[in-house]
Amino acid sequence: MATRKILVTSALPYANGSIHLGHLVEYIQTDIWVRFQKMQGHQVHYVCADDTHGTPIMLRAEKEGITPEQLIDRVWHEHKADFDGFGVQFDHYGSTNNAETKHYAQTIYRTLRDAGLIEIRAIEQFYDPVKNMFLPDRFIKGECPKCHAKDQYGDNCEACGTTYSPTELINPYSAVSGAQPERRSSDHYFFKLSAETCQQFLRTWTRSGSLQAEAANKMQEWLGAEDENKLSDWDISRDAPYFGFEIPDAPGKYFYVWLDAPVGYMGSFQKLCSLPSPAGGRGVGGEGTPIDFDEFWNKEKAAQSGTELYHFIGKDILYFHALFWPAMLQHAGFRTPTKLFAHGFLTVNGEKMSKSRGTFITADSYLKQGLNPEYLRYYYASKLNGTMEDIDLSLEDFVAKVNSDLVGKFINIASRCAPFISKRFSGKLCATLSDDAQQWLKNALFEGETARATTICKAFDDRDYGKALREIMAVANEANRYVDELKPWVLAKQPDAEAQLHEVCTVALNLFLQLTVFLKPVLPTLASQVEQFFNITDQNWMRVEQGGTMLLAHTINDYAHLMTRLDPKLIAAMVEANKESLQPTTPSPIRHAEAQLPSPLPPLPQAGEGNKIAETISIDDFNKVDLRVAKIVNAEHVEGAAKLLKLTLDIGEANTRTVFAGIKSAYDPATLVGRMTVMVANLAPRKMKFGLSEGMVLAASGEGSGLYILSPDNGAQAGMRVK
Ligand code: 2FM
Ligand code: ZN
Repeated sequence: MATRKILVTSALPYANGSIHLGHLVEYIQTDIWVRFQKMQGHQVHYVCADDTHGTPIMLRAEKEGITPEQLIDRVWHEHKADFDGFGVQFDHYGSTNNAETKHYAQTIYRTLRDAGLIEIRAIEQFYDPVKNMFLPDRFIKGECPKCHAKDQYGDNCEACGTTYSPTELINPYSAVSGAQPERRSSDHYFFKLSAETCQQFLRTWTRSGSLQAEAANKMQEWLGAEDENKLSDWDISRDAPYFGFEIPDAPGKYFYVWLDAPVGYMGSFQKLCSLPSPAGGRGVGGEGTPIDFDEFWNKEKAAQSGTELYHFIGKDILYFHALFWPAMLQHAGFRTPTKLFAHGFLTVNGEKMSKSRGTFITADSYLKQGLNPEYLRYYYASKLNGTMEDIDLSLEDFVAKVNSDLVGKFINIASRCAPFISKRFSGKLCATLSDDAQQWLKNALFEGETARATTICKAFDDRDYGKALREIMAVANEANRYVDELKPWVLAKQPDAEAQLHEVCTVALNLFLQLTVFLKPVLPTLASQVEQFFNITDQNWMRVEQGGTMLLAHTINDYAHLMTRLDPKLIAAMVEANKESLQPTTPSPIRHAEAQLPSPLPPLPQAGEGNKIAETISIDDFNKVDLRVAKIVNAEHVEGAAKLLKLTLDIGEANTRTVFAGIKSAYDPATLVGRMTVMVANLAPRKMKFGLSEGMVLAASGEGSGLYILSPDNGAQAGMRVK
């Protein structure tokens, strides 16, 4: 088989949130495919990076009182640790905020501009006059124009599902400062996707076999009929302040994060090409030769050398990868992707992941619970089939599948037979096999005349891991049937059955080894433990081809237990640990281009419709909130703030606290001085334009405009805890 040269990517996670089990579907899916292709002997490079630019990251850093660079550096380390923990083995994990990505983003832009594919147009957008910035849709909130639910985002209503433009919101306000946004115009840079050349190219490309059938159909919908021109130009610029790369020759204009995000694939790969290899040379492309960037990205060179490029993505970002990205590459002289592999979303117990139910589970919390990451790799693999269908992680089914298949069927083969080889045969497998034994092996490893390895191989290649695992478990069932019928534990008690015992354990352990190699892309850590146990080095697909090469007259090591059963109590504890009913910052598992930032000043709840009592929380949840009686020692107006008053509060600490409270509409500051009230004392401090806010004052509000801060009863002292 000819060695293929393959570059593989997974979507770049945003650098402002934790990796959760939803993200892991994709990284595990990709990692399995990469490991499988590497086991076939192909030259595969797997790169990814943190997606570091955009408004949410800029504002989050500001809120934390750090620079965006400090934030993305911290998150990079968190993400890397999560991926390492789950055995996701990138050849390079980078960041979009590097010189390489900047270089390619600017190169692509300049080429598109010189080809006449960039157009400048003035557009009107909402502007936050307090924060002095244009607001992305997700940072504008207001009343839904359709169902009148309050506090809906600028792009869609979570109460009734309507999508709209932020200008349609009733009483819009900035989710950043609370200010009423103004409409302002500014010049934006557009990539002319509506140009004939882009339309023509995309019609051909989307039908060229680069997309799964369901994705190709979706594209035809977006592209419209031959005589239609349904694609709109794409706005690729954002005005300062913005954390990103400046557009060449356009001061104060930055590339929209989605322009440079996929370019991060190139940037990360370029880094890989220039990294020193462990042997001290450059990144190696097989047999010690350096990897040639151009061979993978230059249009002509890639066509000549036949290199392949695959992007694994979620179906929610298909539009960016199937339209914008190939059109950019094509018109900038780079190669286009060989194929996009889109997967569906993850639900947990049949529902959208939820923080209040504890099913919004972070990678870190899974690992901290002491759960074996390979349980999850196995479970996800069993559910994945290479289509865009959503997959469900049923926690009950997860426990059942791990315990019955992985431990009960697979590990059980070794644990039942290996001890006999150690104790009775000095660790040595027998040298020859009887015809009977050969027949059993054939029954297990073939279906008719077809080697199961061939079917398994094809299923992995097609990303139909569910099918691969079903085939693998069919082999495990046969191996167990063999052990059950020949009963080594009975043979061990018969003085004249020594040779038969030796053979049965040798056959069973050989089947166990075959199964391990089949499962190696899914369970790499376990496979390496098994290799140590068998006293053999890194196994590739050769061992299982055509029914497998048997290990005979070979000395193996003592068997040490390989994998324990999954205790459901650990799952319950993990769910409990992830319950965060009081967290107002729930990001949606479905990604938004400029979203994922909590509103720093959540508006006070409104009475009436949409003001249902929140979900029940535990006393532990409640106890996380440290409420204190506070004496207002000073209150004053804040210059330039439409809604805020600056309060100085005494809560019995050495120093007073400063809190900016959105109560200007209801209180004259002079009337507040000397009053007692209640504040949240352990809320993370938030850096605002006007200074640091060190807590939050509680206030009640109803459907009308009234706003009422709380007062404790007479006698309460500053600093007393409210419980
Ligand atoms: O949706 C997301 O999470 C984006 N950060 C994915 C970017 S993928 C690629 F284009 F970089
Ligand atoms: Zn609505």
